[in-house]
Amino acid sequence: MIQILILQFLLVGAAGTQEETAELIGRDMCLACHEVTNGFLSSTHGDAECEGCHGPGSLHMDSGGDTPPTFEGKAPNWVSDQCRSCHGKAEDSLSLFRQGPHSRNQVSCIECHQIHPVKANFGLLKEGPVELCTSCHHSVEAAFRKPFHHPVLEGGMTCLECHNPHSDPEQSFSRLEVFPKNGCVSCHADKRGPFVFEHASSRVNGCMACHQPHGSFNSKLLVRNEVHQLCLECHSMTPNIATAQPPAIHDLRSPRYRNCTTCHREIHGSNVSPAFFR
Ligand code: HEC
Ligand code: HEC
Ligand code: HEC
Ligand code: HEC
Ligand code: HEC
Ligand code: HEC
Ligand code: HEC
Ligand code: HEC
Ligand code: HEC
Ligand code: HEC
Repeated sequence: MIQILILQFLLVGAAGTQEETAELIGRDMCLACHEVTNGFLSSTHGDAECEGCHGPGSLHMDSGGDTPPTFEGKAPNWVSDQCRSCHGKAEDSLSLFRQGPHSRNQVSCIECHQIHPVKANFGLLKEGPVELCTSCHHSVEAAFRKPFHHPVLEGGMTCLECHNPHSDPEQSFSRLEVFPKNGCVSCHADKRGPFVFEHASSRVNGCMACHQPHGSFNSKLLVRNEVHQLCLECHSMTPNIATAQPPAIHDLRSPRYRNCTTCHREIHGSNVSPAFFR
């Protein structure tokens, strides 16, 4: 038997892969041997051809059950391409899936989605969206446990408000492209601008020039413990720095001047005050 298989493999190997010799048999044949339960047949994919996902099954059928067209041991990209043969034709997030960090790191569709048995989660997800994401991203979960954080673990929002799990030119998850202008201000609309007097700080890194997105030990999710540390990183008191220096009236030894935003209150931008006083 093994010898026959090897011979077959060698013969086929010249023409292509062994997989090509398997042919489609149609779902009725699959269902003749397999009792498919757990709600699958009445689910979204219930009418789909089994082989659309599993791949052709003639070798499996002819051998009476050997070489099952299972997903176990399959290359992640093979799996994703099976799914994308129906999904991801349009210019949507799935058409770009292979360029995203999940695909590039061997995370396929079925790490997140379960087809059958069908689970009750929306989007055929294996788990609720937050649990799903934190099951792999432990350090991100830890960030949401810091004293100041977005209310994700409390159920106030999910990772999906800020990240697209697939990939998307408009709303990709990569760090800089998106969040500065699209992601954050969709909820914090008062920070959207345009302002007559913009705080140019956000030009490069967006909101993340000053904030951490998930959680922080610093209040207001700031990247620095104290506000003056944050400001002085760009507005250095030493000359030769491109950004404006606080004028001499600023006595930084005095606590009064250290809390910069007591005076420069509209730190995100202002329509009336070039120094963001109001
Ligand atoms: C002639 C009967 C027969 C046909 C037709 C058939 N199978 Fe199977 N299949 C089996 C048998 C027998 C097994 C091994 C049973 C087991 O291990 O549970 C099996 C195993 C499998 C497995 C692995 C199950 C597991 O638990 O790992 C998958 C997946 C599978 N078949 C899918 C299909 C698909 C898809 C089709 C149609 C393209 C199909 N089968 C057609 C008999 C058949
Ligand atoms: C939309 C894609 C898709 C379709 C359509 C599909 N399957 Fe599956 N099937 C999967 C995936 C993925 C798995 C692996 C388990 C999982 O992750 O959900 C699987 C697992 C299985 C298994 C292994 C046992 C199990 O439940 O884990 C069998 C047997 C099976 N499918 C048979 C079938 C048959 C028969 C059909 C057609 C009636 C079918 N599948 C249609 C994607 C699909
Ligand atoms: C034979 C075509 C086909 C294949 C192959 C296929 N799907 Fe689908 N899928 C559909 C159709 C049709 C729908 C329903 C319409 C839609 O949402 O696009 C759907 C819907 C879905 C949904 C949304 C379900 C919901 O309830 O919101 C998910 C998630 C999904 N598919 C995942 C997958 C994954 C993962 C694979 C690969 C294992 C896969 N699909 C393979 C045809 C397919
Ligand atoms: C990292 C986890 C993850 C991976 C990997 C993943 N998905 Fe999803 N998918 C999700 C989540 C979460 C949602 C729900 C998104 C929402 O509703 O905002 C979703 C939604 C969907 C939907 C329904 C809504 C839509 O966007 O059309 C389809 C279809 C789908 N996924 C198919 C796929 C396919 C096909 C692959 C592989 C090419 C894949 N997914 C890979 C997590 C994932
Ligand atoms: C099966 C494990 C797994 C699951 C589930 C998963 N991810 Fe990932 N994710 C990874 C891996 C592996 C990478 C690439 C390595 C890294 O950056 O950690 C990654 C990368 C990312 C990145 C890009 C990181 C960067 O540095 O650019 C984001 C954002 C992300 N995932 C968000 C999510 C979200 C949101 C979910 C839930 C919908 C999710 N992930 C579910 C494994 C997973
Ligand atoms: C409020 C919006 C927001 C929420 C909610 C959010 N993220 Fe993020 N996430 C971001 C932004 C913005 C970045 C880019 C950070 C940067 O560039 O410094 C990021 C970066 C990441 C990264 C890569 C860098 C890192 O910290 O590892 C991963 C992975 C990630 N997020 C996963 C998740 C997961 C998982 C969840 C849900 C548990 C989640 N995010 C919830 C906005 C968010
Ligand atoms: C889905 C809506 C949503 C998105 C998107 C969002 N936030 Fe938030 N943000 C909230 C909510 C809700 C709170 C908690 C408000 C509260 O506790 O009173 C919050 C709190 C904050 C706080 C702390 C406020 C305080 O008083 O402590 C900061 C700073 C913040 N967000 C910045 C950001 C940044 C930066 C982004 C983009 C990476 C972002 N947010 C994206 C909803 C959102
Ligand atoms: C130059 C640094 C800086 C940038 C860039 C920045 N912030 Fe802030 N943000 C701050 C400081 C400092 C505070 C705390 C103000 C205080 O304590 O009076 C704050 C407070 C906040 C708060 C909570 C208090 C409030 O006013 O609602 C939110 C929400 C917020 N920022 C969102 C954003 C968003 C969204 C962006 C991007 C559009 C952004 N920030 C960009 C420095 C910045
Ligand atoms: C990431 C760098 C960065 C950070 C952090 C930052 N700024 Fe700025 N800020 C700039 C840049 C760039 C400009 C515009 C160019 C300039 O300074 O002339 C600017 C402009 C200003 C102006 C207006 C100056 C003028 O042009 O009249 C004030 C006032 C100011 N920042 C105060 C602050 C305060 C207070 C903080 C701390 C809450 C802060 N900045 C944090 C980069 C930054
Ligand atoms: C007690 C109120 C007060 C505090 C606190 C304060 N400033 Fe100012 N700041 C001023 C005044 C007044 C001006 C002069 C504005 C003008 O010329 O229109 C100024 C101007 C500036 C300018 C230059 C604006 C320009 O047009 O060139 C920068 C930069 C600046 N401050 C940064 C800071 C930083 C950083 C801190 C915290 C370390 C801080 N300020 C704390 C009141 C304050």
